[in-house]
Order: sequence, then structure tokens, then C-alpha cells
Amino acid sequence: MCGIVGYIGQQDTKELLLNGLEKLEYRGYDSAGIAMLNDSGLNLFKVKGRIARLREKVDMNVQATMGIGHTRWATHGVPSEDNAHPHQSASGRFTIVHNGVIENYQALKNEYLQDVSFGSQTDTEVIVQLIEKLSEEYDTTEQAFRKAMDMLKGSYAIALIDEKDNETLYVAKNKSPLLVGIGDGFNVVASDAMATLKVTDQYVEIQDKEVVLVKRDQVEIQKLDGTTVEREPYTAQIDVSDTEKGTYPHFMLKEIDEQPLVMRKIIKEYQNGDNELKLDSAIRDAMKACDRIYIIAAGTSYHAGLVGKQLIENIATIPVEVHVASEFSYNMPLLSEKPLFIFISQSGETADSRAVLVKVKELGHPALTITNVPGSTLSREADYTLHLYAGPEIAVASTKAYTAQIAVLAILAVDTAQAKGNNLDFDPMQELGIVASAMEALTDQKEAIEALARDYLSTTRNAFFIGRSTDYNVSMEGSLKLKEISYIQAEGFAGGELKHGTIALIEDGTPVIALSTQENVNYSIRGNVQEVVARGANAMVISMKGLEQDDDAFVLPQVHELLTPLVSVVPLQLLAYYAALHRDRDVDKPRNLAKSVTVE
Ligand code: G6P
Repeated sequence: MCGIVGYIGQQDTKELLLNGLEKLEYRGYDSAGIAMLNDSGLNLFKVKGRIARLREKVDMNVQATMGIGHTRWATHGVPSEDNAHPHQSASGRFTIVHNGVIENYQALKNEYLQDVSFGSQTDTEVIVQLIEKLSEEYDTTEQAFRKAMDMLKGSYAIALIDEKDNETLYVAKNKSPLLVGIGDGFNVVASDAMATLKVTDQYVEIQDKEVVLVKRDQVEIQKLDGTTVEREPYTAQIDVSDTEKGTYPHFMLKEIDEQPLVMRKIIKEYQNGDNELKLDSAIRDAMKACDRIYIIAAGTSYHAGLVGKQLIENIATIPVEVHVASEFSYNMPLLSEKPLFIFISQSGETADSRAVLVKVKELGHPALTITNVPGSTLSREADYTLHLYAGPEIAVASTKAYTAQIAVLAILAVDTAQAKGNNLDFDPMQELGIVASAMEALTDQKEAIEALARDYLSTTRNAFFIGRSTDYNVSMEGSLKLKEISYIQAEGFAGGELKHGTIALIEDGTPVIALSTQENVNYSIRGNVQEVVARGANAMVISMKGLEQDDDAFVLPQVHELLTPLVSVVPLQLLAYYAALHRDRDVDKPRNLAKSVTVE
């Protein structure tokens, strides 16, 4: 989703801004722009479309040592050059970039800005016009900026340039992520450290309703009443090389291949020298103390939560409900007496999940976040965090984060079971080691999966994924992967449910991909395959070793039956990848999607 980068220092800022925006491309966007201030005034460049187009448009002769840049994912107003950020106030004095959604923009416009003519359809322009209005009333831009921030309702991460002040970037945030990076003789602003890691690994966290005056050699954090706040920087733990594709054609393929490594990293991080599980004892206590777990997540993380439910219920014997975050906020079920909330989020920034976390904290319930980004909003605001150790995931379609989430949930379930004294015949680290090797065997068979993608998915309009029990959960993830990046209309179904309506859509040649990894449902899922084949479907069965039959398209190496999602998803990820390639899709940056969805 939208991204922000800003720089103030001694060097020319063009390349830093453009490079920073390229690093944010993975989040998804539809237009982009940069603004740079120098002695001759403000230089503004905006395009609809990719950063590559912006590069062509930017006048390379412009030299400036301060600037702001933005990638926009349209919310208010269509993707267009007019609606792209940065936006300017009527006189051109103020220039702004903004992430988030201003809920009271229409009210502010009606009340204070009736005489102003607007150049865009965005809520963002209201902010910059408001700041200009307030600057007529207040002595300093700093005061006007703080006042404007105080009047905004909703979410925002903001960076602003005042043409009359080439010493300051005005920065603020509420609910949307924003960091200030500290350099030697320069400072930077970024919605995601990824954008500016090339120049610094030192970051200061900005909290909600704070403003920051970012100068070349000073950073001053203030509350909205003007009082200053002291905060030490921390070191970002991301390796720059993890954010590069290397020799891979796409991040998605690199990330699929990294899954065995991630499994091994998780084994290492969650184990002490005596091969015992190493988890925060406070998390163990919270798990033991609760009478029901509520898993809250979105997208792929929701699908990992469904698998997590089975793991926790089977191993730790605690009842679990799994909820889509965007529904839970408005439709909260009756809660048990001692609930524990688990937020699963790769980015740790998903606004829908955060809205639930805010409510949960208001109600005083404990919350654990499982995330790939430990310093993220959901991690900071929950009581406890479990880290995924998956390394940066850049491709929009989530792969290694999904398998990491399931592995960490399995470890959490076993740790709780041990603490409860449950009888267990399951060594999670040994089983995850077997999973890592199985994943390797699968990623070595790309050619076979590419051939299946070509045969089944290169021209079809739609596809169905079916499975029972945990295979049903994975079939939903497989179908999400396929629709996200190939744009084939795909659905994941419980094998037995297809015949209660959706089987009407099966025609000659309709691809149906069936998973069979569970002994207790092997017979019935194969019955479902026969039902669709009898109606003309082009069925592909992916089965687990030991359950395979002669005509199966692909046989998975055997792993513990509770951990089969970790391997059965790999061919589905690769099928989606190759189907998208055959259709010439932009695999890493699919249309309309954003990696980190920071608006509700
Ligand atoms: C977006 C992404 C999905 C992701 C979902 C949840 O929709 O495109 O890939 O699964 O957000 O993101 P989270 O960071 O909370 O796991």
C-alpha cells in the first residue's frame, strides 16, 4: 500500500528518493511522485503507473538536498496524475505526502476550505490546504502543522515541505506506520525501513499523535501540545541483501525457495542448547491461563490461522476460533471468560487487524502477535510477540510467511501442551526438520510443476481447489495464490461441499486441483474427484506418499500428518507462480493488490 520516503541532508536527493520508492514498490501502488526543494523553489514530478515512468519524467538536472516521495494505492479518487502525491496547497507554498485515510476530510473541507479550489479528488489535499489556511492564523508553520494534525480524524503518516523553510521536513503520524532514520549530516523519513536501509540502519520510532521536525542534523519529536519527547534510535535488523532478488527472476520464486531455510532458522531460534523449546514464559502462562483462543488475521495469515486452529486444538487442547479481522471489528462474537487473542500478520501493520487489537486492549484482554516484523505496530501494541524469522517478504503474494506462521503456531501449540502436561508423541523440531527436507525436495521439482501449470492452467478462465480437513484450509490458500497473481477465478472448497451447489460450474476441461494428505479423508476426497471427473473436470490430484494412486499428478514427500500444510502448499505456490508466468503477469506486483494494507 502507499509508501513514503523523505530526505534532508547534504547530498542530491533525486536518486535516494527514486531508489527508496523502488524499494517500496513491493507494497503495491498505482501512481508515484517526488517533490524536491532547492534555491529556485519546489520541483514536482508525478506519474500514473510505475516508478520507471517517474524516473523518465524527473528532470535529472534538478539538484536539491531535501525532498519527499510517495507511491499511492488509490482510496479516495481514481489512480491518476492529478490524484498522485505529493499534493500542494493553493499557493504552492506547502507540499505533502500522506498515507492513510482522513475520515473527516469532507467536514474539514465544508467548514474551513469552502473558498479553496481543489486540484484532486483526494482526502490528502484537504490536509495541505488546511495547513495553508492555518498558517495565516499561526505565527509558525510548526504551530499550524500541529494544529492541523490535531484536527484530523483517521489514519495518517505525513511528510510536509514548506517552501519558505529549507531546513525542516514536517512529519507526523497516527495509526499508519512511519519511521525517522538517523544519518551523519542527514536524516530520512520512511513508511518502511526497507526504503532507506541503504543509507542508515538507525531508526527512531514515532508514536501515534506525535509530530517530528526533521532537520539535517537534528530530529525533534513533539506531542501535539508542543512538549518535546526524547527517544533513542534502534538498529533495524534487516540485511540489505535480503531485500535484493539476486539471480532470481522474481522475489516470489526466491521466497518459495527460501522456505526450507526459514524452517531451519525457526528450529534454531526456538530451541535452547539442550534442544528444549525456548519461548517467553509469559506467553506460556497466557496460553495456559486462557479458556479460548481467538485468532485474528487477514488474507494468507487468516489461512495460516485456520491451520493453527487445528494444531492448537489437537496438540494444546484449547478451543480456538479463527476470525477475519475486517469482520470481527464490527461483529464481535460473545467472548469466553478468559480469552487470549492471537494476531497473525506478516507485516504487523494490517489496519483491519490493528482495529481489532485496539478494541481488545480497551476490553483489557491479553494479546499475542505473531509477525515477521517485531517492531511493527501490532507487535508493539500487543502484550507479547512471536517472531517468524522469515526475512523480508517482498513479493505481494505471501509464501514463506505462511509456512513460517504455521511452523511457529506448531511450536506454540507444543510448548503449551508441554506446560499443561499433555501426553505428546510429537517432537516439533524433529518434525520441522523433516518438513524442511521435504520442502527442498519439492522446490527441486519445479519443471514438473511448471508442466502441470502449463497443462491445466495456461488458458482456463476458472479453477477449483478441493480438500477435506486440513487440506481444505490449504486449498483456500492455493486458490488465493492463483487468483492473486494469475487473475484466474479460483475457489477453494471443502471437498464434500462442492456438490451442494458449486458443482454446477464444472464443465468440460474445468481444472479441479484436489489435495489428499490425510488418511482419514483420503477415500472421501477421491470420491469427490470422481464426481467432478464424471462432469468433465480436468482433475489433478496432489497426494501424500503412502496415500498415492496411479493417476496422481504429484506425490508429496511424507511428513507428520499435522504438518502436511507446510509441504502441500509448496506445489500450489509454484503452480500459481508458473500459471502467472504463462499468462505474462507481473508476478511480484499483481494489479490492484498491496502487500501491507494499512487502511481499513
Ligand atoms: C494483503 C496482502 C496479503 C496478506 C494480507 C494480510 O492483502 O496482499 O498477501 O496476506 O494483506 O497481511 P498481513 O501482513 O497482516 O499478514
